[in-house]
Amino acid sequence: MAIRFEDIKEHIGSRVIWGDRTELFTPEAAQAIRAKVEERTVLVFPEVHLSDEEQLAITEAMGEKVRLTARNNVQSTDQDVYQVTLDEKINPQPEYVLGTFFWHMDGITVDMPPPFATLLSCRIAPDKGGETEFASTYAAYEGLSEEEKQALEGLKAVHSVRASLSPIADAIPEKHREKVLGIGLVKEHPLVWTHESGRKSMVIGTTADHIVGMEVPAGRAMLIRLQEWAAQPAFSLRHKWTKGDFVIWDNTGAMHRAIPYDKSTGRMMHRTSIAGTEAVAA
Ligand code: OGA
Ligand code: MN
Repeated sequence: MAIRFEDIKEHIGSRVIWGDRTELFTPEAAQAIRAKVEERTVLVFPEVHLSDEEQLAITEAMGEKVRLTARNNVQSTDQDVYQVTLDEKINPQPEYVLGTFFWHMDGITVDMPPPFATLLSCRIAPDKGGETEFASTYAAYEGLSEEEKQALEGLKAVHSVRASLSPIADAIPEKHREKVLGIGLVKEHPLVWTHESGRKSMVIGTTADHIVGMEVPAGRAMLIRLQEWAAQPAFSLRHKWTKGDFVIWDNTGAMHRAIPYDKSTGRMMHRTSIAGTEAVAA
């Protein structure tokens, strides 16, 4: 038998169904999974309990694995799997993880095409908070009126980690505030990404600071409205984690965020990323 997929919501999300676990690790499965991620944005593998080796095998079967945290200089170890945790004993820069509480796309401020996909395995599920939300920026773009689409043509936004962490800047201990806020590059991206496939999505999220050539207040207001538009229930999905769940999402066509959780929940996720193959293009 081959793996199957079941839609979760109309515009976003599919659940993966398998019989024997070995079905998940064939080259055909990798191809089908990649195509489904592109089509449905978010894929959920309920309680599959992957080991790191298995997660890396799926990551590498789908594309080229990439270590974002090494690029961003926030990982002290040399591991291929990044541990998403607020525990400072494991993660010396928890502010980087606190930044995940705000809508964002991964790897939008590094010097390479945005990663195609992010893969997360739940090792310790929080008992309170810590769900992950995804919003399809393909569906959000497609849902705009022709007039609204026209108004976005040719616009560019300036992205930075500093912008995305600005709501929590005061809460970052002063001794390393500047270092954390200075993570990554300041990068300009077209607001509307025309992919090689011909489909269009939006490059938005809290990393987007302002719009080039627009007054800052007007540009920011526009960015916030687009973010709110994309986050509406029709285009978004909230995943409540059970230990062993594994989720893959199309980072080029979605923004995501974690619902706030406390360090005391022990929440632990293992993350890998797949390199993108296209730069953001208008
Ligand atoms: C990330 C991220 C979301 C989460 O690791 O890049 O955004 O729910 N994680 O932990
Ligand atoms: Mn992220």
